[in-house]
Amino acid sequence: MNEEFGTVLEPRALPDFVETKFIKTLTERAMGYITAGFPVHFRGASGTGKTTLALHVASKIGRSVVLMHGDEEFTTSNLVGGENGYRMRKVIDRFVSRVLKVEEDLVKRWVDNRLTIACKYGFTLIYDEFTRSRPEANNILLSILQERILDCPAGRDGEETYLRVDPNFTAIFTSNPEEYAGVHRSQDALRDRMITMDLDHFDEETEVGIVRAKSGLPQKEAERIVKVVRALRESGKCEFAPTIRGSIMIAKSLKVLNGRARASSAVFRQVCQDILASETSRVGSKTNQAKVRELVKQLVSRHA
Ligand SMILES: Nc1ncnc2c1ncn2[C@@H]1O[C@H](COP(=O)(O)OP(=O)(O)O)[C@@H](O)[C@H]1O
Ligand SMILES: [Mg+2]
Repeated sequence: MNEEFGTVLEPRALPDFVETKFIKTLTERAMGYITAGFPVHFRGASGTGKTTLALHVASKIGRSVVLMHGDEEFTTSNLVGGENGYRMRKVIDRFVSRVLKVEEDLVKRWVDNRLTIACKYGFTLIYDEFTRSRPEANNILLSILQERILDCPAGRDGEETYLRVDPNFTAIFTSNPEEYAGVHRSQDALRDRMITMDLDHFDEETEVGIVRAKSGLPQKEAERIVKVVRALRESGKCEFAPTIRGSIMIAKSLKVLNGRARASSAVFRQVCQDILASETSRVGSKTNQAKVRELVKQLVSRHA
């Protein structure tokens, strides 16, 4: 099996998964649409929990999961399998030369790729960040979702083949509308065939629960971290809104450094500055970082 672009997973409950009312409601809505026969699409900024929710919903469905990540270099053959007699592969050799090498991969292969497997056996497909793939590569999904037929491109013997999609097959998509580089917008035909749920950042209770679960910090400590991060997010003064990832990083670092989430703790102030200033600014954006640092200082004294 081609291991390059995805994985087949057994459905199981995620470790440390936090299920608040907020998460339950989202899960139930998604399960409702899926039961009604529609693929769902979680759309939201980075850190809104799209991938985790997709995995959670898939575990509720209870079928094996095929996980794929959108990729600029995807072709339809990468998705469904095909005779890629001759294929160029780019290898980025970061450590040695930083030169983009082009390697020729001459392996002749007809691989049952993940999408084919999911259709054939009625697995759940999670197509994470699907808009990163080119629309032409994703077109194969149109007939899968609409007519429930997988139209395999000319294969082993040069003949087109069709595969009836197993009735248990379902698909969960995610995408990030804020991404612009490398993202293809014109996937409307595909988007028409799924139900899109726009995700926002978690509510406070969920954020505190996640920070606790990931770091093991006590409730009060997690609450103060989340308050600072949410206040910074709501200030609207950041180039990029700080996400739950920032809160998790602060909490884990604090734990290791034996700090307390208190304005009086120099460690806490430093950790917040380091993590939040970098998370919310573009590389090299010094003026913005200085502004965020000043704001973080104020928010820490107010909320911790
Ligand atoms: N319900 C949840 N329970 C526990 N952790 C969660 C939950 N939802 C998200 N997370 C954590 O929050 C972070 C961001 O979630 P993720 O699904 O990666 O977001 P996205 O895919 O939207 O960028 C990850 O570290 C993830 O483990
Ligand atoms: Mg994700």
